Amino acid sequence: MNIVILAAGMGKRMRSRLPKVLQPLADKPMLEHVIEKARLLGSDNRLIVVVGHGAEAVKSYFHDQSDITFATQAEQLGTGHALLQALPYCDNSKSTLVLLGDVPLIRTETLQKLIVASGGNVGLLTVLLDNPTGYGRIVRKNGAVEAIVEEKDASAEQKAIREVNTGIMVLPTERLEKWLGELGNQNAQGEYYLTDVIARAVGEGVPVNTALASEATEVEGVNNKIQLATLERAYQLEKARQLMAGGVTVIDPSRIDVRGELICGKDVTIDVGCVFSGRVVLGDGVRVGAYCVLKDVEIGSETEVLPFCHFEGAAVGEQARLGPFSRLRPGATLANQTHIGNFVEIKKSVIGEGSKVNHLSYIGDTDMGARVNIGAGTITCNYDGVNKFRTTIMDDAFIGSDTQLVAPVTVGRGATLGAGTTLTKDAPDGELTIARARQMTVKGWKRPVKKK
Ligand code: UD1
Ligand code: CA
Repeated sequence: MNIVILAAGMGKRMRSRLPKVLQPLADKPMLEHVIEKARLLGSDNRLIVVVGHGAEAVKSYFHDQSDITFATQAEQLGTGHALLQALPYCDNSKSTLVLLGDVPLIRTETLQKLIVASGGNVGLLTVLLDNPTGYGRIVRKNGAVEAIVEEKDASAEQKAIREVNTGIMVLPTERLEKWLGELGNQNAQGEYYLTDVIARAVGEGVPVNTALASEATEVEGVNNKIQLATLERAYQLEKARQLMAGGVTVIDPSRIDVRGELICGKDVTIDVGCVFSGRVVLGDGVRVGAYCVLKDVEIGSETEVLPFCHFEGAAVGEQARLGPFSRLRPGATLANQTHIGNFVEIKKSVIGEGSKVNHLSYIGDTDMGARVNIGAGTITCNYDGVNKFRTTIMDDAFIGSDTQLVAPVTVGRGATLGAGTTLTKDAPDGELTIARARQMTVKGWKRPVKKK
């Protein structure tokens, strides 16, 4: 089969510099959603995307996806004209499925149903709408499809028809050259309407079969940011439903955002307001508190994430306790039973089993052993303004509060650093190291008094 995705339209109502089909839904261009659905129909299909407005941006976004062929529609003269541009890339001996780049939530099962219904002739995906305004109406006579009439060309009687054209259809490719070549643009919009091929098919006695979409959202087109937000919510609700069906406790399915892949073990609980993007894996029994933002993160079983955490590119072991207000940056690797507390930032560091960084600290470019305790306000000074250096903290070390570790530096096994230390040389195993001014008391010192 040929699968042609029409994506050349300008999308003026988006009022955006970004071409309409690149507008993101769940972090991914609408067009990419459509392409992914198309791919699920089988790998032996030809995938052709018609680009025009913002063609360079669209092509460059998909430049590494080599199964896509781009056809260019230099001027947007209508959907029929758009499909005509794709014809040279189509296999004439196979049917052509037309998809729209701005209808992102179409289901693969619905497309399969349509392909079967078409029976190798014309297949039209329609939907019944309470408010059909704006859509092409399906005109039938004695039950059989006669034509599609666009809203702007419809009579009052036709406007009352609730069955509308979703824009998605299956067409016999070998007839398309003739049908599309003979299209006229004598209509309200002065465009070459793809929808006019239906009347042609009927005229030539080619059967026009229809399939009905299961619900309006899957065939809804996006023309503005309001419709984009509406479909985003529909998409997210569906994601939440899938998670719940898989056994995840989603505290409020209307307050979760999954913008990528979220893989959950058994008995995972997700509180409100969380955003997951990239690939996030949560092990059995993981609890994620309210308002956490997680991107490309793996979290081991029974770990608890308290509210307001921001993690990206991190891996966390089992039975850890993170947050509230913790930040894990790329390359943070936390072993089992680690504790990371409020206002702690960890980057490119390994935190060993059972180690604790509970308050107000920055740990960057560090290799930390097991059972280390980091006092409040500890900072690894990893950057001299030009180069970055690593800090090593061995097992069972105890770092006093308000300590600066000036890398490269090593704190030995079981070593203790006194509070307030600025460590510039290695601290030996098992000893107490302190680097700070000695405390003294000035006997009999008097505070100055105001002169009269
Ligand atoms: C189209 C259908 C209408 C249907 C509706 C469903 C026609 C004439 N009308 O109307 O019956 O109810 O979709 O959403 O087909 N495009 C191009 N090149 C063009 C024009 C459009 O590539 O020259 C692309 C757009 O990028 C878009 C799609 O085709 O992805 C649909 O175009 P749009 O202008 O939105 O058509 P509608 O007026 O919505
Ligand atoms: Ca549209």
